Amino acid sequence: MNYDVTDLTLADAGLLRIEWAEQQMPVLRQIRERFAAEKPLAGHRIAACLHVTTETANLIRTLTAGGAHVRLCASNPLSTQDDCAAAMVQHLGEEVYAIHGEDRDSYYKHINAVLDFAPTITIDDGADLINTLHTDRQDLIAGIRAGMEETTTGVIRLRAMAAAGALRYPVIAVNDAMTKHLFDNRYGTGQSTIDGILRATNILIAGRVFVVAGYGMCGRGVASRARGMGAKVLVCEVDALRALEATMDGFDVMPMGQAASLGDIFVTVTGDTSILRPEHFAVMKDGAVLANSGHFDVEVDVRGLAAMTTAIRRIRAACDEYLLTDGRRLYLLGEGRLVNLAAAEGHPAAVMDMSFANQALCSEWVATMKEPLSLGVHNVPTALDEDVARLKLAAMGVAIDTLTPEQSKYLSAWEQGT
Ligand code: ADE
Repeated sequence: MNYDVTDLTLADAGLLRIEWAEQQMPVLRQIRERFAAEKPLAGHRIAACLHVTTETANLIRTLTAGGAHVRLCASNPLSTQDDCAAAMVQHLGEEVYAIHGEDRDSYYKHINAVLDFAPTITIDDGADLINTLHTDRQDLIAGIRAGMEETTTGVIRLRAMAAAGALRYPVIAVNDAMTKHLFDNRYGTGQSTIDGILRATNILIAGRVFVVAGYGMCGRGVASRARGMGAKVLVCEVDALRALEATMDGFDVMPMGQAASLGDIFVTVTGDTSILRPEHFAVMKDGAVLANSGHFDVEVDVRGLAAMTTAIRRIRAACDEYLLTDGRRLYLLGEGRLVNLAAAEGHPAAVMDMSFANQALCSEWVATMKEPLSLGVHNVPTALDEDVARLKLAAMGVAIDTLTPEQSKYLSAWEQGT
């Protein structure tokens, strides 16, 4: 039995949602149709460790249509959509190992089950497959042609591995493609983070003080969406350029030590650890809401919070009340894991369309390249990135200008002065 999911009776509901997502993913659909005819991935085994969502289901069926044998496990224990996992097994014939709410043992058992078929290509969201391959499953590394990484946090991990000489097969930083991070990270995280906070709390955002820690692409998206809903937005940063950009974008920038006592809602999107700590919890307002949208659950110091707490109650799905020893109450969403996936459905399909088009086209690139990639972290080829942009524009019915011959000549000329 090449799967492990919660409940196959959920499959019909999951299929409806997968079809719903597909309608918003025209670029991936076109790639799937071409893959079905050309089978560029034939003979490849692709191990994928991704959030098990309806959007991911559409990526996996695209890879399968291309002739690959695919196995999927979750990249986060709380992001798996059980109906979607069931539909992938029951209706799409895919091999899925993912159970919503699984514990650490089950999470790693599933990663290992996916690796057991000796993949030739890996697709990661957070580098857990690569990590496991470089620690417990090193025997499989020789058979792997290349991997892809979906997220900023994963790319940071991989670059650290490459710099330390520890990375043992080439990886493509899909996150760094323009058609990925400029859209998925900004508009996807921006909208889905707000969506997660609203589903978990149903609080009014207008008029609230909304603190965003981190002003990378994700932080920019969250801050601008919160402002759009009428919040007063404060930004905390460690990087001078980003802090300057946030300031000129019109946000108040200050250290967390100052923002902690002012905020009503806090969102961490830094990719780093211990952003909200006991010293901050100690001065927060009664009723403050804490959420994380960074990849790992390390940005809010949940243990530190628990140590200051006398009682924890689950108030609503994905919303836990921490009653502090001094009587104040803080509300932690999604147990400090990615709020957009733990409390909502992740990024909308229309934006995952571009991210996963990059994953599908990079899989094809790896499968069909004559010379293997050199060891290290590679960028998505610009031509591929531009193809995704062109396909998306066409699907959206947006036409653009082309350079006239005179304009092309002007751009490549250097002789002309003032
Ligand atoms: N990451 C963020 N949103 C996602 C989604 N909807 N599906 C898969 N991965 C995601």
